[in-house]
Amino acid sequence: MAPKIAIVFYSMYGHIKKLAEAEKKGIEEAGGKADLYQVKETLSSEVLGKMHAPGQDESIPFITPDKLEKYDAFLLGIPTRYGNFPAQWKTFWDQTGKQWSTGGFWGKYGGLFVSTASQGGGQESTCLATMSTFAHHGIIYVPLGYHTAFGTMTILTEARGGSPWGAGTFAGNNGQRMPSKLELELATTHGQSFYKAVSKVNFA
Ligand SMILES: Cc1cc2nc3c(=O)[nH]c(=O)nc-3n(C[C@H](O)[C@H](O)[C@H](O)COP(=O)(O)O)c2cc1C
Repeated sequence: MAPKIAIVFYSMYGHIKKLAEAEKKGIEEAGGKADLYQVKETLSSEVLGKMHAPGQDESIPFITPDKLEKYDAFLLGIPTRYGNFPAQWKTFWDQTGKQWSTGGFWGKYGGLFVSTASQGGGQESTCLATMSTFAHHGIIYVPLGYHTAFGTMTILTEARGGSPWGAGTFAGNNGQRMPSKLELELATTHGQSFYKAVSKVNFA
C-alpha cells in the first residue's frame, strides 16, 4: 500500500509554509499524496503583534498527536530558534506522552526541512536537535542526502539553505528574504526523494 504521508509545519512568517508547499508538490510529482497540517501557535496575540507576526492561516488544519499517529511517514517543517526547534513544536511533542509510552510513532518515517535567518544559524543543528525526539519515539529518520540533489547541493555561486539533513531556506535578519527558486526546487526534490525512499517500504 502507498505510504500515508503528512507534512506538518510551524511557520511564523511564511517561509516554512512555502517550503511545505514545495515539498508537497515533490511528493505528488513522485506519484504520492500528502496532507498538510500546521502546529498550533502558543504565543499570545499581544506577543505576536510585537513580533510583527501575521497570525496563522486557519484554512490549514492543526495537527494533534492522534491525527499524526494515522500516518506512516511525515515531513516536519521547523523554523529555527537558537539552532533548535521552537517552543510551538516543543509544545506539540510535549503532548505525545501517550505515543511515547505506547509506541504510537514507533517505526514511522520522518524527514525534516528548516528555515534560519542566516547561514550558520542552525540549518544542521536544528535537525540534529530533533534526533533526540525521533530516537525516543522510535521514528526512523530519512535524510535528504546528496544522491538526488548533488548538483544543487554543491552550487557555490548563490546563497542557499538546505543540507543533506533536509531542504531549507534563509529568511534574512527581518524575514525579508522569501525562499529562492533554488531553495523551492530543492524542497520539491526533497519531497520526491522522501516519497521514493518511504514508498520502498511495504505498509500493511
Ligand atoms: C526567538 C527567535 C529566535 C531565533 N533564532 C534563530 C537562530 O538561532 N538562528 C537563525 O538563523 N535564525 C533564528 N531566528 C529566525 C527564524 O529562524 C526565522 O524567523 C524563521 O526561520 C522564519 O521562518 P518562518 O517564516 O517559517 O517562521 C529566530 C527567530 C526568533 C523569533
